[in-house]
Amino acid sequence: MGKKVKIGVIGCGRIANASHLPSYRNNPDAELVYVCDILKDRADEAAKEYGAKAVYDYKEVINDPEIDAISICTPNYCHSSIAIEALNAGKDVLCEKPAARILSEAEEMREAKNKTGKILNIGVVNRFKNGVNKVKELIEGGELGNIHHVYMSFRAYRSIPGIGGAFTTKAISGGGVLIDWGIHFIDLVLYCCGEPKAKTVSSEAFCHLGKDIKNYNYVYMWAEPSADFNGTCDIEESITGLIRTDGPVISFNGAWAQNIDEDEMFIDFMGDKGGIRYMYRTGEFTYYSTKNGMLSSTKYTYRQGDAFQNEIDAYIKAVQEGNDQLPSNININIETSRIMDAIYRSAEQHREITL
Ligand SMILES: NC(=O)c1ccc[n+]([C@@H]2O[C@H](COP(=O)([O-])OP(=O)(O)OC[C@H]3O[C@@H](n4cnc5c(N)ncnc54)[C@H](O)[C@@H]3O)[C@@H](O)[C@H]2O)c1
Repeated sequence: MGKKVKIGVIGCGRIANASHLPSYRNNPDAELVYVCDILKDRADEAAKEYGAKAVYDYKEVINDPEIDAISICTPNYCHSSIAIEALNAGKDVLCEKPAARILSEAEEMREAKNKTGKILNIGVVNRFKNGVNKVKELIEGGELGNIHHVYMSFRAYRSIPGIGGAFTTKAISGGGVLIDWGIHFIDLVLYCCGEPKAKTVSSEAFCHLGKDIKNYNYVYMWAEPSADFNGTCDIEESITGLIRTDGPVISFNGAWAQNIDEDEMFIDFMGDKGGIRYMYRTGEFTYYSTKNGMLSSTKYTYRQGDAFQNEIDAYIKAVQEGNDQLPSNININIETSRIMDAIYRSAEQHREITL
């Protein structure tokens, strides 16, 4: 056990309470010192639950010389400003995904990280999932042969989160289903396929169901409790596209909302010797083999563990060791921001983008 890492968590909403705060509490090498939210009640509640000090301005956290590292769990609009200020104040940073709303903000974050030499990891939690690492292992072991095509499906029927709120307002979120769900799928595929680099991107994005907020048919809102009929919905609720890389071609369909009641959250890795269908929600996967002149399929089960705990544990250890090379570091993750930026540009301009 090394020196205890003194932590501040900035933003005490859903992801902080579901994963960062309990995972820090479970880690014997972490000491949660501050919880911060601009909403006083949220910071106060977290302080009570986790035995930390509540503050309402993140500057108090990053200006405290006692603090070693922070988690940024705020909406996307302030990821880059908080991360850059924290890095410049000498703190290590774990910032929730996406790195930022737009590529230029993510690049500024990367510059600050590289200038200060501190850690900047992005919350791409799939890299810490046991099943994803098993898929990566099978691919690296050559079980699929050469992977020529990966297909990602992140489609749901009625899942626009908090329509008219932060998630559907581009100025706050940077985008819709791609930047919220698609980022996880792109990142997972890049990780499993040995970090290929994108060459061209072509896509189209749609906002037909949510734009007419008053008439959007839904059952419930999963992020914010209800629709804001006077709010904004200027993001994509569904998207389709193709990414050519120096490795496999990646094609995708994503939807927060569509008029097909199928929840299709999976990734198909298609190689010349075998294939894998990875079920995103459950983490189970099936491996299809052509070994020994026979077609076979194997469904894998394994101990799933808690990926968020794995992520936080790896971060604490990295801070103790001064290791800025975790697979979630910004220098790797910037490729996802680069691809998403090209996807959005392609959809806006209705043409292929060369990177
Ligand atoms: N890794 C994952 O699987 C995952 C899952 C959910 C959310 N997220 C990401 O986590 C982030 C937060 O999402 P959420 O669902 O928890 O949102 P949320 O709205 O539930 O929580 C965000 C909190 O940040 C607070 N906040 C806003 N601006 C702040 C500021 N300047 N200083 C301090 N606090 C501030 C808000 O008041 C709110 O309490 C988003 O970037 C989202 O993409 C990641």
